[in-house]
Amino acid sequence: DKGGWSSFMAKEVSEEPEAVANTLRGRIRDGVVSIPELDGLDDLFAGINRIIVIACGTAAYAGMVGKYALEQWARVPVDVELAHEFRYRDPVIGSDTLVVSISQSGETMDTLMAVKYAREAGAKTVSICNTQGATIPRESDAIVYTHAGPEVAVASTKAFVAQITALYLLALHVGGVRGTLTPTEIAQHVLEIEAVPEKIQRILDRSQEHIEQFAGWMADTRSVLFLGRHVGYPIALEGALKLKEISYIHAEGFAAGELKHGPIALIEPGQPVFVIVPSPRESPVLHSKVVSNIQEIRARGARVIAVAEEGDAAVLPFADEVLHIPVAAPLVEPLLAVVPLHIFAMGLATAKGLDVDQPRNLAKSVTVE
Ligand code: F6R
Repeated sequence: DKGGWSSFMAKEVSEEPEAVANTLRGRIRDGVVSIPELDGLDDLFAGINRIIVIACGTAAYAGMVGKYALEQWARVPVDVELAHEFRYRDPVIGSDTLVVSISQSGETMDTLMAVKYAREAGAKTVSICNTQGATIPRESDAIVYTHAGPEVAVASTKAFVAQITALYLLALHVGGVRGTLTPTEIAQHVLEIEAVPEKIQRILDRSQEHIEQFAGWMADTRSVLFLGRHVGYPIALEGALKLKEISYIHAEGFAAGELKHGPIALIEPGQPVFVIVPSPRESPVLHSKVVSNIQEIRARGARVIAVAEEGDAAVLPFADEVLHIPVAAPLVEPLLAVVPLHIFAMGLATAKGLDVDQPRNLAKSVTVE
């Protein structure tokens, strides 16, 4: 039931605030992260030397975002691997490796086979999954469910923000167990994450209409590039995937620092480029790097669409369009920056008259390899 929305995707984007809130619910008590599903695993978390995150598509991009939190907060080295690449390359894993799988459906064959492979190799597995009782969680040692609610549209939206939320909870939990975070630090991060649903809602209330209209103006575009740094990089990849998936437009995401190593050759007058801009106050160094990337592409004629913090005056002179997001801590920012990109992809596909819920050639759950 679309509940009055024009598509399941529109409904599910509108549910992004609840997806985050519901994934947090019951897992935070007085500023302390407590995930009952992980009870009894403290020795495991204290003893691991490495985490490998395995997933496909959008879930893998959530994993890339989670890597920053797991490394920064829990101080464990993290590799993020596409499940189908992981299992066919004889990876080095053992009992000191924690494998974290991420899957909305819990049925993705590539991810399932990678989890089985990891278990057979002696690794412990935690699964982050949105579907109760699905196959991947049943094959795992522990499960942290995302509570985004059923996702019907093929393109994943609310599950993505819920996956990042679950990874952040996991990172805070493991950081607490390993003693790499103090209770005060955990409480501070928890406060920032708890503010996310309201901030996403603000983007939807204030900007959705404008972004959809803007996407409509771009309906004839043949190619869109997305740039980001740090946690903005996986968000650039996600923005590009969503756009190609439902609007059939060529789209590519790049790490902004990689520009001069090749992709800048693609920039010609009029080329639309989305740039995820870090907070000028929270991440001044990254911010100035990204602003100079914007200047570089702008000098070559790119049409810059900046996703930037409210009040960021530095990007204004160089951006043709600014999509604003509320002020947030650096690791919280991706949960906000992705929202305009989801709205944009949906708006553009809708303007092209496409079925946003059922893009061609794709299935919601990929149960074959
Ligand atoms: C993109 C999308 C896919 C899935 C991928 C993994 O919008 O939906 O890239 O994210 O097929 O699916 P799950 O999470 O069910 O394992």
